[in-house]
Amino acid sequence: MQQPIAILDSGVGGLTVAKEVMRQLPKERIVYFGDTARTPYGPRPAGEIIRFTEEIVDYLVQYEPKMIVIACNTATAVALEPIKKQVRVPVVGVIYPGARAALGRTRTGVVGVIGTEGTIKSRAYEMALMQLSPNVHVISQACPTFVPLVEQGNFRSEETYEAVRSSLLHLREYPLELDCLILGCTHYPFLAEAISEVMGPKVALINSAEETAREIRSVLKMHGKLAVTERMPVHRFFCSGQPAVFKAIAQQWLGEQIELTPVVWQISHIG
Ligand code: DGL
Repeated sequence: MQQPIAILDSGVGGLTVAKEVMRQLPKERIVYFGDTARTPYGPRPAGEIIRFTEEIVDYLVQYEPKMIVIACNTATAVALEPIKKQVRVPVVGVIYPGARAALGRTRTGVVGVIGTEGTIKSRAYEMALMQLSPNVHVISQACPTFVPLVEQGNFRSEETYEAVRSSLLHLREYPLELDCLILGCTHYPFLAEAISEVMGPKVALINSAEETAREIRSVLKMHGKLAVTERMPVHRFFCSGQPAVFKAIAQQWLGEQIELTPVVWQISHIG
């Protein structure tokens, strides 16, 4: 059997990347882990996020992946380098692909970034954007209320619109002409409709999933590891929390039935 691509996130957010991988690389087999028992990662200290990410990678290596994709901005911001040391296969994160996509799109050079507290505090997007284009103007905003809404499957309620409106007020009223907003959390594409309505038609939303899938293809190609089989791959999904909620959201987002295996973390993992 061909080796899979392992994709991980704190919950359902990484499904936005998995969906794009399925679209761009339909021959690739995916094993996906959503750490829904410990979501959200955003407010957690960096050391804890690194430990959680290492534990998930430890779990996934039994499936002999040919690549690890950290489809979580919060984990990419702090755990990308430690994970590269932990495994021998290529490791791809989501922050550089997102930054590149935004720079390819902005005309005014004023780029907004929204993400979890962890991602915004790490300044990882600011550093990536400035490194790629030193004159870019970056304005960042943490949106801690978004991830819990997405994990509940609450994408379009009045409560969700209100949370989006109040979180983005500062960006909407920003005095410079912001024309590009990076969805710097893989959960946020689930709220794209509300975010787009609040920010208005002049602001392009940048979802790093597309660019990440392109990067996955080029890294696999470079290593001679692109899947060649003609058979449709069977993907596998794992989650550490409530399987019913994860399954409902995943099937709705991916538009297909999934094979889901619940994973029970030891108490020592949770604590
Ligand atoms: N989806 C993740 C991210 O991209 C993490 C969200 C969270 O667990 O707080 O940052």
